[in-house]
Amino acid sequence: MKIAIIGTGYVGLVTGTCFAEVGHDVICVDNDKSKVEMLQGGGIPIYEPGLEEMVKKNVEAGRLRFTDSTNEGVEASDVVFIAVPTPPQPDGSVDLSFIEKVAREIAGAMTSYKIIVDKSTVPVKTGDKVAETIKRYCQAKVEFDVVSNPEFLREGFAVDDLMNPDRVVVGVMSQRPVVAMKEIYEPFKAPIIVTDINSAELIKHAANSFLALKISYINAISAICEASGANVTEVANGIGMDERIGRRFLNASLGFGGSCFPKDLSAFIAISDELGYDFALLKEVQRINADQMSRFVRKITDTLWVLKEKKIGVLGLAFKQNTDDTRMSPAVELCNRLAAEGAELRVHDPKAMEKARPLLPEGITYVDDMNDVAEGCDALVIATEWPIFTELDLEKARKSMSAPIMFDGRNLFDPQEMEKLGWTYKSIGR
Ligand code: UGA
Repeated sequence: MKIAIIGTGYVGLVTGTCFAEVGHDVICVDNDKSKVEMLQGGGIPIYEPGLEEMVKKNVEAGRLRFTDSTNEGVEASDVVFIAVPTPPQPDGSVDLSFIEKVAREIAGAMTSYKIIVDKSTVPVKTGDKVAETIKRYCQAKVEFDVVSNPEFLREGFAVDDLMNPDRVVVGVMSQRPVVAMKEIYEPFKAPIIVTDINSAELIKHAANSFLALKISYINAISAICEASGANVTEVANGIGMDERIGRRFLNASLGFGGSCFPKDLSAFIAISDELGYDFALLKEVQRINADQMSRFVRKITDTLWVLKEKKIGVLGLAFKQNTDDTRMSPAVELCNRLAAEGAELRVHDPKAMEKARPLLPEGITYVDDMNDVAEGCDALVIATEWPIFTELDLEKARKSMSAPIMFDGRNLFDPQEMEKLGWTYKSIGR
C-alpha cells in the first residue's frame, strides 16, 4: 500500500517505520523542517529501542522517506494517516487545532479518492468533524473516507507493540475503506476489529482510562498495605493470578505520568461532561494519583524532618523505563517538589537528562554514572523503574552517604535484603 503519515512524533514515526518494515511504501510528513532534515540525514529525534536501526534499514531499502510537504505526501499515497499531537487545554479538554489544520491541508491536496485515517488520540465524535472539514475544504470535490484507527503502543516498547499488536481497531463510517485497512494490517497477524467510528474513538479513551484506573487501584491498596503492615506486591500477585484481573499494570508506584494517561483521563472526563455524564470514577483515579505522589513526598519529609540543605540523590527522570520522555514525569515532579523544600539534588537518568534539564530548577547536579549519585547524600530516591537501577552498587552507595536511607518509589529492591545490607529502606505499600 502507498501510505502517508502526517506527523513524525512517537506514534507517527514508529507507525510509519513499522509499515515500511512489512513492505508498504511510506512517506512521513512533518512541518518541522529541521526534524525532517535530521531524519533525512539518518538521525532520530527520540530514543526508542530498535527504532534507529529499523528506520535506517527501510530508508536504504527505499520504502521509507521524509518530507515537509503535505501535498507531496497526499499525492504519493492512497491512505493518509493523521498522527499529530492533541495536547490538553487548561480546562482538561483536548486542543484539536492540529487535527483540524491537517484535515484542511489534506483536503486542499486531494485530487483523487483517499482514505484518511486518524491515529491521534481524540475524543469521540472527532471523526465526524474531520469528515465535515475535508468535505468543506476539498476544492477538487473527490470522494474520500474517514477512518479511526487508534494506536495502543507504549513508549519504550513502541516497535514491539506495533509489530505484535494484541488487536487492531478500525472504526469506519462505511464499508468502503475496510479492504484497504485490512490489507495494511494483514502482515501484522493480529485480530482486526471493525467497528463504527465513534466506538473506535471511545475504545482508545476507555482503554487508557481503565489502565490508569488499574494503577490507581493498586496505589490505593498500597496505602492500606502501609497502614496495615501488608505487602502490596503479594496482594498484586494474589489478585493478578485471577485471569479476570491480570497481573499487568498492578505495580504500585509513586503515580502514573507521561504524555498519555494524565491527558487522556482529563479529556475523557471533559468529553463525558459534554455528553452529559459526570465520570466521577475517573476524577477519583486522578485524585488517588496526585495523592500517591504527596504521600511519597511526605514519607521523605517525615523521615528527613528538614529538607533544607539536605543532599538527595535521585535515580530516574523519565516518566518510566526505556524512554527519554520526561513529559508529565512523576520523577520530574518529585524533583521539583524536593527542590522547592530546599533539598540539594544530585540526579541521574540513563537517557532523559537532557530532556529533563529545562523542566528542573537551576543548581541541580547531573551525574553521569548512576553509581556516583549517592555521593555525600542524606538519602537516595528511586523515581523511575529503569531495570539497570537494580544493578546499583549498593555497598559503594551506602558507604558514600552521610546516612544510608533509600526511598524506593518503584519497589525495585527487596525490603528484607535492603535491611540486611544496612539500609533504612522505605518503599511503596510494603
Ligand atoms: C500508554 C498505554 O499503555 C498505551 O497502550 C497507549 O498506546 C499509550 O499510553 C498512548 O495513549 O499513546 P505509555 O504512556 O507509553 O502508554 O506508558 P505506560 O507503559 O502505559 O506507563 C504509563 C505510566 O504508568 C508510567 O508513568 C508508568 O511508570 C506507570 N505505571 C505503569 C505504573 O505506575 N504502574 C504500572 O503497573 C504500570
